[in-house]
Amino acid sequence: KKAKMILDKDFKISKVDKRIYGSFIEHLGRAVYDGIYEPDHKEADEMGFRKDVIELVKELKVPIVRYPGGNFVSGYNWEDGIGPKEKRPRRLELAWSSLETNQIGINEFSDWAKKANTEIMMAINLGTRGIDAARNIVEYCNIREGSYWSDLRKSHGYKEPHNIKLWNLGNEMDGPWQIGHKTADEYGRIACEAAKVMKIVDPSIELVACGSSNSSMPTFGQWEATVLEHTYDYVDYISMHTYYGNEENDIENFLAKSLDMDAFIKAVVSTADYVKAKKRSRKTINISFDEWNVWFHSRENDKKIEPWTIAPPLLEDVYTFEDALLVGCLLITLLKHADRVKIACLAQLVNVIAPIMTEKGGKAWRQTIYYPYLHASTYGRGEVLASVIDSPKYDSKDFSDVPFLESTAVINDENDELTIFAVNRDKADSMLFECELKGFENYRFIEHIVLENNDIKAANTKENPDNVVPHSKNDAVIEDGLVKVLLPRLSWNVIRLE
Ligand code: AHR
Repeated sequence: KKAKMILDKDFKISKVDKRIYGSFIEHLGRAVYDGIYEPDHKEADEMGFRKDVIELVKELKVPIVRYPGGNFVSGYNWEDGIGPKEKRPRRLELAWSSLETNQIGINEFSDWAKKANTEIMMAINLGTRGIDAARNIVEYCNIREGSYWSDLRKSHGYKEPHNIKLWNLGNEMDGPWQIGHKTADEYGRIACEAAKVMKIVDPSIELVACGSSNSSMPTFGQWEATVLEHTYDYVDYISMHTYYGNEENDIENFLAKSLDMDAFIKAVVSTADYVKAKKRSRKTINISFDEWNVWFHSRENDKKIEPWTIAPPLLEDVYTFEDALLVGCLLITLLKHADRVKIACLAQLVNVIAPIMTEKGGKAWRQTIYYPYLHASTYGRGEVLASVIDSPKYDSKDFSDVPFLESTAVINDENDELTIFAVNRDKADSMLFECELKGFENYRFIEHIVLENNDIKAANTKENPDNVVPHSKNDAVIEDGLVKVLLPRLSWNVIRLE
């Protein structure tokens, strides 16, 4: 097969907001305890954080990490996690039926974030709590001194404010599973009032209102419209969440699921702009896609886990090669919408549906999905180019006209490097990829990074952590502004030019 792409250096979609390479750490399973924090581990630093895990997070260049939930946040008292550790309460954590020891809270997490070269995106509890707790946490985190909560932070040993600039107004409040689940009107009102007081405390913060938990929610569409009717003037972003699985073991259909993400984004953008029009507003609400990933491998096992234990092994998906291909397609989809998607969080970061896995007392390793995330975060910074693509197509169970080629390109604004990301969805054949470059005179080929494997179910495990790893090829040619390269069947590709 053959696919063609045309790129013009002057035709750009948007600058990439680096926060689209964000991730997520929730107090869930072994993400925090026995994930980023394991005081008895030989790699633990003076605070108990695993240095080997921090190194992997740094390698990914994660610009922002959402914290502390997820479903967890809707039952969380943030004050439980501050002050002397020995006085912090052990709580029944109702979202995941676990025991929460509160040994890590906002202060420790902000230390971890500094060590990992990242920023925090903080979520507040709008399930069991409300406006009062919302204004207090912003005061505790962001006010320098001279008030009750800021002085309390100082007394806890944190002289400097944490200066957290991005906040989620609750989590998945449309979902019946959520602690304190609300109707769109109920949520819209409380989100508006919480937003108001939070921005009075610190006018420099940005706020994300909860959108739908996925596009199949019965309230999807109307939820966004109603919530934004209430909150439009007080918030900056509307959230989106989605997870995909291959329960039916149908790779053609599975790899097409990024088309669902694409349609979902278009629908939320339209809904936000509909409210903008109704309100005659000049302000544009952008998207925070603050949970996305593949999630299905662990669901059966999770049903067998004992309740009320500390750091149970929940949501520990072992990712396969085909999962990495879909993650690649999803990253490309997010980039294509860089004009409106300003924040996105791969959910999650360590052990829980994560690119990084750890063994208690043992090693840390990279899952298959680590690699497309690493490549996009490393090379996908700059401006997304508007690409014209002509690819052969196929139909799958749920999708029609699925292009075999999924691709986009980013031009780095610092060094003018051009990176083309491409997935060949075809399970039968390699594909000749031809890219016509306009305005890229004298560009030369640097490398072609490929993630490919004969076994679509191949995974990286503790025993075999380098089973699925990318390799570099030197096989592209540029002739008269035409890049020609062969994309292996079922492959993730990064083609770099300068
Ligand atoms: O990321 C796992 C869970 O998925 C989050 O806690 C929740 O927000 C979503 O349903």
